[in-house]
Amino acid sequence: MNRWEIAKELNILSLPVIVFHYQNPVEESLHIIKANLQRRHLNEGQRAMLLLEMDSFQQELEQQQQEAQERLRLSKGQGIKVVPQGTTLKGENGKAVDKVAKAKGVSPRTMYRAKAVKKANPQKARAVKQNKVSLTKAYQQVKAEEKAEEVRELQEAERLLTDLEIMDKLGIKVQPYDLWQFSECDDRFGHDYPGRIPGQLVAHCLYYWTEQGDTVLDPMAGSGTTIDVCELFNRRVLAYDAHPCREDITQHDMAVQGWPEQTAEAKLIFWDPPYFKKVDDGYGDKSISRLSRSAYLAFFEHMATTIPDAFHGSLAFLMSPYRDIENPLDSIWVHDYVNLFLSHGWHIQDLLNVPLTSQRVSPQQIKRFRDSKLLAWLMRDLVVMERPKS
Ligand SMILES: C[S@@+](CC[C@H](N)C(=O)[O-])C[C@H]1O[C@@H](n2cnc3c(N)ncnc32)[C@H](O)[C@@H]1O
Repeated sequence: MNRWEIAKELNILSLPVIVFHYQNPVEESLHIIKANLQRRHLNEGQRAMLLLEMDSFQQELEQQQQEAQERLRLSKGQGIKVVPQGTTLKGENGKAVDKVAKAKGVSPRTMYRAKAVKKANPQKARAVKQNKVSLTKAYQQVKAEEKAEEVRELQEAERLLTDLEIMDKLGIKVQPYDLWQFSECDDRFGHDYPGRIPGQLVAHCLYYWTEQGDTVLDPMAGSGTTIDVCELFNRRVLAYDAHPCREDITQHDMAVQGWPEQTAEAKLIFWDPPYFKKVDDGYGDKSISRLSRSAYLAFFEHMATTIPDAFHGSLAFLMSPYRDIENPLDSIWVHDYVNLFLSHGWHIQDLLNVPLTSQRVSPQQIKRFRDSKLLAWLMRDLVVMERPKS
C-alpha cells in the first residue's frame, strides 16, 4: 500500500504539496537524489551509491552550465540571448564528494568500495542502491570477477596454469574431504536460476575426475554453471537442456531424445537433474520434474541403460532425496537412483556429501520445521560412478 492509499483509507482526501519547477531533467534528478539521501533507513552502502550518483549529475549540470556560458559569450553582439540553466550546488561537486560523504557519515572505505563497484558493474551498483545486495557482497563479487578475468587473459596469452593455480587465482580452496561445503552460488558461474549450484562444486569435480583438455558433458545445464567453470579450467564442454536459457546450451530433451551422440567424447558427465518435484514449476513443461513418480524413476532407469558403450568416463550424479511427508513410502532416496545404475553394471567410484546451503531455508521455515518435528532438507549426495573397463 502506498502513502496515498493509506491517506485515503484514513479519509485524508487533500494533502499539502510543494510543486517544483526544474529547468532540465538533470536538475530534477539531482533534487530526487538529495531527497532520497534524507531517508532515514538507508544503509551506508546505499548512501554511498546515492552520493556517487549525485556527483555524476552534479558534474553533468556543471558541464551544461559551462556550455551555456560559452554560448552566451559567443552570442554577445549577435543579439541572441541565452540564459544559463540550473542551480549551482557548490561544495558537493567533483572531488568534493568524499567530503560530503564524510559529513553524511559514509566512511572513505565505503566510498572506495562504492566507486569500485560502480566502475566495474553499474548494474550491481544499482542493486546496492536498491538494497538488493549489500555493498560488501557486491564488492567481493566485483573483486572475484576481476580474478576470473585475470585467468581468462592468461589463458588467451597461452600461459597454461595448473588446476591448482587456477583455483588459487579464483580464490577457491580445494576441499580435501568427502564432504564439500559451499556457502552459496558464485556470480562468476551461471546466473540466478532455480536449482543453480555453486561453481566451486563443478570446479572440484573437474579437479578430481578430469584433466585439462578433457570434454565434460552436462545434459541438464540450467544456467550454464558447468560451461563457465569449464571455460576457466580449460575443459571443453557440451551443454544441453530441454529449455536452454543461453546460446551456448543446445536444446535437447533427454526424456525424448535420450543421450546425445557426442556423449562418447566426454571424459566426465556432470549431471544435476531436477530433484523430483523439489523445484516443482521452476522449470519448463518438458522438465522431468513434471513426471509422475514412476515415470520419473523409469526415465532414470532408461538413461542408466542407454549411456553409449563408447563412453568410458565417469558419471558425477548430483542428487538430493525427496521426502514425501504425506506418503513417506513415495519418498525417493538417493540410493533408489544409485541402485538403478548399479543394477545395470555401473559401480561407485566415489560418494560424497555436498549439502545444500542452509541459507535456502528461511528463519520462518526453520521455526516451522522445529515446531512440527520435521527435518529441513539439506542433504545432497554426489555419486561418482563408472562402468568396468573392458
Ligand atoms: C537442477 S537444474 C540444473 C541447474 C544447473 N546445474 C545450474 O547450476 O544452473 C535442472 C535442469 O534440468 C533441465 N531438464 C529437466 N528435464 C529435462 C529434460 N527432459 N531434458 C533436458 N533437460 C531437462 C531443467 O530445464 C533444468 O534446467
